[in-house]
Amino acid sequence: MSDTTATHLGFGVDVGGSGIKGAIVDMDTGDFVGERVKIATPKPATPQAVADTVAEIVRAHDWHGPIGITLPSVIRNQVACSAANIDEAWIGTNVHELFSAALGTEDIAVLNDADAAGLAEVAFGEPEAREGAVIFLTFGTGIGSAVFMDGTLFPNTELGHLVISGEEAEHVASSAAKDREELSYKKWSKRVDAVLHEYQRLFSPSAFVVGGGISRKADKWVPNLTVDVPVVAARLRNRAGIVGAAMAANEHVAP
Ligand code: BGC
Repeated sequence: MSDTTATHLGFGVDVGGSGIKGAIVDMDTGDFVGERVKIATPKPATPQAVADTVAEIVRAHDWHGPIGITLPSVIRNQVACSAANIDEAWIGTNVHELFSAALGTEDIAVLNDADAAGLAEVAFGEPEAREGAVIFLTFGTGIGSAVFMDGTLFPNTELGHLVISGEEAEHVASSAAKDREELSYKKWSKRVDAVLHEYQRLFSPSAFVVGGGISRKADKWVPNLTVDVPVVAARLRNRAGIVGAAMAANEHVAP
């Protein structure tokens, strides 16, 4: 697969704590073309080990075109600036240089995982994501955030690290916290609700869009939330990171 123009294709790779996933994306529909390839995240997940795994995924698709890559990190001028749930060695890494060397191309965009997923939801998700002041959140190992005004991204917001009642939001209300503490949906959604109320107090968004694996079970917890703006479950679910990464690469959006 080498042509990006004929049917407007892209390629995205989503780097997560447990798996690194990549696929060819139809940029007109946001659907995958062919299989998604997933390889377990190397341990330790050092920059070089991750870059080698990303290269393996790209080779498996025989892809020759722009490549978008997500990382669970603040990315400024293509340098990783934080490492909350990833190896400390990422901090200060020029990710563009790292992936260019591993992939043999300069045509790369690296961005925060939640920012990528949010971009995909704006393009292909629920209509609420597109208009007004929207806070998109992913619930997983951490809480990722992406903030949009009429579909335009304000990157690297890191709202999962906001301290609420003395605790970082993601330490108490991520889906990892739910699993770790074996919380029921009812108990966990109270924590999520407290976090959303604080975001609402500070940002007055017009809507929240909630994603991450746990949005698949949105009916079990979204109805418990009491903020007075719509809370909408993300539509692309775990496809969003890959699709958003591909969009960033094709559109040359590289924070
Ligand atoms: C990281 C963010 C990331 C989020 C979701 C947080 O711990 O700081 O950069 O978007 O987890 O993976």
